[in-house]
Amino acid sequence: MTTAKRFRDRVVVVTGGAQGIGQAIAEGFGKAGGTVLILDKLTDEGKAVAQAIGDAGGQAAALTVDATDGQQVQDVIDRLILDYGRIDILINNIGWNNPTPFLESDETLWRHLLDVNLLTALRFCRVTLPHMIERRYGRIVSISSIAGLHPWPGSVPYGIAKAGIISMTRSLAADMAQHNIRVNCICPGPTETGLSKELRKTQPEYVQAIHGTVTLGRLADPEEIAAAVLFLASDDASFVLGETLVVDGGYNMV
Ligand SMILES: NC(=O)c1ccc[n+]([C@@H]2O[C@H](COP(=O)([O-])OP(=O)(O)OC[C@H]3O[C@@H](n4cnc5c(N)ncnc54)[C@H](O)[C@@H]3O)[C@@H](O)[C@H]2O)c1
Repeated sequence: MTTAKRFRDRVVVVTGGAQGIGQAIAEGFGKAGGTVLILDKLTDEGKAVAQAIGDAGGQAAALTVDATDGQQVQDVIDRLILDYGRIDILINNIGWNNPTPFLESDETLWRHLLDVNLLTALRFCRVTLPHMIERRYGRIVSISSIAGLHPWPGSVPYGIAKAGIISMTRSLAADMAQHNIRVNCICPGPTETGLSKELRKTQPEYVQAIHGTVTLGRLADPEEIAAAVLFLASDDASFVLGETLVVDGGYNMV
């Protein structure tokens, strides 16, 4: 179905939806008729995105959560189930990177990168899936990265975490298909967000090395990543399962 309101009856959780790719995903679902629930540690930014979706005629709310805290993740999903009755679609988008030469990195940084980029997604899946199973309906799309497929400078723990998202996707897809739950993931290439703007300022050589290899010759707009997420969450992708959809403008192609 490609009609504008293809998510009209769907309750959609977007983690990390307060800015960047997550914001574009939240706005995309909002335009397509979904009830969008933005979960982010940035309270004001999350509320501003929800407000903008509402002003444009959609339905959205934002709640504050630090997803590195398992209890907060449990509590926020419990609250959403009480308020909205169900979660149809979960978008695991939270992530962060701080490229650091491996020999200058330490265990504190590894643990944090694995936590933010991988464990947050596991936590949301763990607390949301029982509700999806109960209703025999669910769609999960997680945001990995081409760093999970290709070597990236200064990104050993980030790459491990993003490869973990791909592996989590395949294993969960196999386990959950019997419950009419489809699990897929996206590997975006370099995308124009606050994260890439910050890296351009603080680590210009890194950005040059990565961004110079995109065959299309530019970064993705967050909306171009969101379009692929909406596809995987929609009935247009009804036979797509455990898939990793690369949206990278031809990264490292030539
Ligand atoms: N920007 C890129 O070039 C790029 C490329 C490939 C993959 N990705 C992935 O796409 C996703 C979104 O990235 P982005 O560039 O939009 O980043 P961003 O920093 O603009 O947005 C990430 C959001 O996650 C939220 N967040 C981070 N840690 C959190 C926590 N512990 N609890 C709750 N919220 C938290 C932030 O507040 C922020 O709103 C990430 O998973 C990132 O790894 C980005």
